[in-house]
Amino acid sequence: MDLDQAIQQRHSVRKFSTKKPKWDEIIECINSMRYAPTAGGNFTLKFILVEDLDKIKKLAEAAEQPFIENAKFVLVVCSKIDRLVNAYGERGKRYAKQQAGAAIENFLLKIEEKGLATCWVGHFVDSIVKEILNIPEEIEVEALFPIGYELKKKYTRQLKIDLDNVLYFEKYGQKQKKVPKKLNV
Ligand SMILES: Cc1cc2nc3c(=O)[nH]c(=O)nc-3n(C[C@H](O)[C@H](O)[C@H](O)COP(=O)(O)O)c2cc1C
Repeated sequence: MDLDQAIQQRHSVRKFSTKKPKWDEIIECINSMRYAPTAGGNFTLKFILVEDLDKIKKLAEAAEQPFIENAKFVLVVCSKIDRLVNAYGERGKRYAKQQAGAAIENFLLKIEEKGLATCWVGHFVDSIVKEILNIPEEIEVEALFPIGYELKKKYTRQLKIDLDNVLYFEKYGQKQKKVPKKLNV
């Protein structure tokens, strides 16, 4: 799969089939996150791969999103930001979020390339997720990723954002050149 295909076909999946993904393939997707950029080379992420069905059920409840229960795995992405904050102070907190997002996009694209499916889940009760997985107080839970295969793989992307409306030239708000038509589909 080429890069454009992965970027354009990636989408959130909330209905999973009963087929279980191969563990090794998921590890490969997780590994892709190590290649993302990090402020000053400080890698802040920690990952917990959950396969235990009882724990997955509890995570679905903590997120108040029942569809998670049907996933075969849930990946929990956490940040340990102490070294980043020591290096950059308050700004380190911003960097931590940015680099988590960059790494997560790597993961999402790799999931797409492998023919797997997931959904970025940012809504959950932090304290309950931490309790289920024994996550220390100082560690931040960034997001949950239920992983499986898409139940019905029939998807056509409908982008709602026109590049013309979000791309400015030389200063904020200045629309100057028209972007190539093929990019505004
Ligand atoms: C920070 C963040 C938090 C999200 N939280 C949830 C969530 O809790 N539950 C959910 O079903 N989708 C969640 N999503 C997925 C978005 O709903 C989804 O990306 C958006 O609707 C665009 O659809 P697409 O991913 O198919 O392009 C989240 C996405 C992001 C980036």
